[in-house]
Amino acid sequence: MRLKDCHNFHDFRTLAKKRLPSPIFNYIDGGSDDESTYRRNTAAFETCDLVPNVLTGVKDIDLSVTVMGQKLDMPVYCSPTALQRLFHHQGERAVAAAAEKYGTMFGVSSLGTISMEEIAKQIDTPQVYQFYFHKDRGLNRAMMERAKASGIQVMMLTVDSITGGNRERDLRTGFSIPFRLTLAGMLQFAIKPMWGINYVTHERFQLPQLDDHLDMSGSASSIGDYFTNMLDPSMNWDDVAEMVKFWDGEFCLKGIMSREDARKAVDIGCTGIVISNHGGRQLDGSRSSFDQLAEIVDEVGDEIDVIFDSGVQRGTHVLKALSLGAKAVGIGRMYLYPLAAAGQPGVERALGLMRAELERGMKLMGKTSIEQLSTNNLRFRS
Ligand code: FNR
Ligand code: LAC
Repeated sequence: MRLKDCHNFHDFRTLAKKRLPSPIFNYIDGGSDDESTYRRNTAAFETCDLVPNVLTGVKDIDLSVTVMGQKLDMPVYCSPTALQRLFHHQGERAVAAAAEKYGTMFGVSSLGTISMEEIAKQIDTPQVYQFYFHKDRGLNRAMMERAKASGIQVMMLTVDSITGGNRERDLRTGFSIPFRLTLAGMLQFAIKPMWGINYVTHERFQLPQLDDHLDMSGSASSIGDYFTNMLDPSMNWDDVAEMVKFWDGEFCLKGIMSREDARKAVDIGCTGIVISNHGGRQLDGSRSSFDQLAEIVDEVGDEIDVIFDSGVQRGTHVLKALSLGAKAVGIGRMYLYPLAAAGQPGVERALGLMRAELERGMKLMGKTSIEQLSTNNLRFRS
């Protein structure tokens, strides 16, 4: 199978699985506990159907949206994800370049493997900085100052990862940073030598957002350990209110799932929220983010930007979320498998297919611009 044979999410996933050592594939692919929320995320889109209009004249389609003060050429952006240079040696550079090509936003993770400064220099499209709340308040402020200095437009504080989710696939493989693999895990690397050659022949692995603060040289520091040791489980609304004030710009909370929390986000001055369950990687058994979207839009949709992620695999999933009132939609695995499968051309192909699906979907729906989408063109099955 080659890149040109990839026509959808599942094809990219299959190719990524072929290329990656299985501990890395499973880190991307997995969810927490029984993965029930993970499965439900995509299944939830099947609870409603699109109702098209015809004969509306759909020669030219405008897919652009404005979200968090940023004009995007399409309503889909690359949600921040960790460790991209482990998936492909081009890592964040590839994803950011592809996002720029399609005129959309790129989110750089606190656990990113390329620095926010480098990406900010590389691309002209807006950049989001995703960060976590650390026990060390000085570190939190230093990170915001660094983000400001590098020209980051949007701050995104992840609030659903106060502790690491229970990723049982990772426990089995021993996936950790730096690697501390089980014997079975090691064998999986041995049978994918191309990945290993690429890994060792490119620049040393780093976490440049954190490198002054995180010692990766000694014992294995798993993602779970980072969450447990460095992040502050006592973080509360007052702490975040202070950060929002300190940032004094576009600020959103990623991982809001309830109406009450959406209201509090408005109260502390956030300009956006991302309805997300972290792609089913944190609290298993939590509701799918699509199922929560309508009531949250009802609560705060007129006051702040409601953004949505988790489970998106198709243009029509995006159209359903936009019809319910989301201002933009984030994708994670939908660009990570293409990255792992083929680097920058892979991500470009995935975003190109997404754009084509959105355009085709809009035409078949009889809509020429995103603001024409509404609950009028959706019906929930009873
Ligand atoms: C993530 N996600 C994530 N979120 C975040 O705030 N900071 C991070 O560092 C990461 N890292 C990360 C790694 C991997 C491998 C995945 C799959 C996801 C969550 C991500 O931003 C997004 O919320 C989900 O991926 C959305 O779900 P889908 O699109 O993957 O179903
Ligand atoms: C994850 C963390 C890094 O989902 O957000 O793996």
